[in-house]
Amino acid sequence: MSMFRMAALSVAAAFALSAAPVSAAPLAVEFAGPDLPRDETVALPVAEGGLTGPVAAINAEAQGAVEQAMQAAGFKGKAGEVLPLYGVAGYRALLLVGVGRDALTRVALEDYGARAATRATGERVHVVVPESAEADAPSHVANGALLGSYSFDKYRTKEPAAARTLVVHTAAPDAAAQRYRQSWQPVAEGVAFARTLVNEPANALWPEEFVERTRAAFKGVKGVTIEALDVPAMEKLGMGALLGVGQGSKRPPRLLVVRYQGAGADDAPVVFAGKGITFDSGGISLKPGAGMGQMKYDMTGAASATGAVLALAKREAKVNAVAIAALAENMPDGNAIRPGDVLKTMSGKTIEVISTDAEGRLVLADAVTYAQARFRPRLLVDLATLTGAVRSALGDDYAGLFTRHDALAEQVSSAGKKAGEDVWRLPLHPDYAKGIASTIADLKGGADGRAYPGAGIGAQVIGTFVAEETPWVHLDIASVAWLDIAQPTKPAGATAFGVRLLDQLVRDHYEAR
Ligand code: BES
Ligand code: ZN
Ligand code: MN
Repeated sequence: MSMFRMAALSVAAAFALSAAPVSAAPLAVEFAGPDLPRDETVALPVAEGGLTGPVAAINAEAQGAVEQAMQAAGFKGKAGEVLPLYGVAGYRALLLVGVGRDALTRVALEDYGARAATRATGERVHVVVPESAEADAPSHVANGALLGSYSFDKYRTKEPAAARTLVVHTAAPDAAAQRYRQSWQPVAEGVAFARTLVNEPANALWPEEFVERTRAAFKGVKGVTIEALDVPAMEKLGMGALLGVGQGSKRPPRLLVVRYQGAGADDAPVVFAGKGITFDSGGISLKPGAGMGQMKYDMTGAASATGAVLALAKREAKVNAVAIAALAENMPDGNAIRPGDVLKTMSGKTIEVISTDAEGRLVLADAVTYAQARFRPRLLVDLATLTGAVRSALGDDYAGLFTRHDALAEQVSSAGKKAGEDVWRLPLHPDYAKGIASTIADLKGGADGRAYPGAGIGAQVIGTFVAEETPWVHLDIASVAWLDIAQPTKPAGATAFGVRLLDQLVRDHYEAR
């Protein structure tokens, strides 16, 4: 048996051992030129159908050992395949990371970076940027690594894992570092901020605490103004729906408004309004016990809206942007609203509560009214973990998109696809209005679920509070806000779905150049 065959066999064994991610510690990112160190772990991209670039050079230097190892391990370079090699051509550890055969888009580059960072061992990990038509390929690799390595460990008492450094190897490292710090790292920071809010349990995060965390995150960020409307301020504005949802909890509701000015003072802003139910017990229409603890993530819309504005402000985007977080805890105490109650919204419209568990549309009714009255937005996106129905329809793969504007549907779908946060358009049928006709009030908060689709009815209720001419999109993110099964750049737990999509949407259509 030749030397190379022996090396290949030991490599195949190592592959089996390293199938699970081995690390999820904090990650510092550096950029360096094409020279690769031999004494630290180096991740290399491998495309399907023939070695190219640095991995081809190393293979030649090792007289074909890399190719032989790939063959022995059945590694073809498919996206998602990973193969560690030890001691080849004098490199302590090489990690071959498959990137498939398709053109490497932002999402593919992020996935590559995530796999490299989470599968490699060692405190310093080097990663080679693949050939790609994407101008900011090094940034995407870095952000993928950062987002894939995110973890929420503050409640674990065991020693935290050692901090790690990722060195991104690319032809022009200084320019890449500059682009990364200015334009892309802020997006990963917006995502991490939102994920952490979502992962926090409800005994650590309630409406006022959400506000405090937001103030802390925006500290020192230029062009930002933060306001939080308290109960008297909301009473003055007549926000009976948001106040109604919040009144069953000891922890009072808030309407958080984060404004970022990156364009002319008179330019209309893009406004992101998020459902921020810090815990959804269902209220008097109490949820069943099993799985209720998941409802700490019912504030994902608010976290993602705020995280998106954090990203835009940190990267100094040339846009005016506002996050509105409709914050309340939905609890069933003696002061709670009841099914059958009628609430008066800020718009003046009255709404009959069918289930107190359909609370997201209530808080958003006031949030979108406020958004339009105060800001006359050039774009209004609301984000909400609104319905179980959208999860049944779309699973983990897509958020539900609802809009009356076809061109907007196209823009948001395309931004989501580019950013790795896919959406699927669902209908807003004119008949849904009949489903929410009330015998006592202007409308009711829900419809007969056998006659009408749940996610569409939720969208219809919110849409009742949005003017026809307002460029409005509703994203029901209940399907994608939380993952039990990790994806490359989305570890299990909070995804902060929406931050990357909204940032991309602004880059594509709303930013002055
Ligand atoms: N927060 C829930 C929706 C949800 C469920 C999000 C599961 C994530 C996972 C929402 O407030 C809710 O309870 N919706 C009800 C609406 C119904 C009462 C009309 C639902 O979907 O069952
Ligand atoms: Zn809810
Ligand atoms: Mn609910």
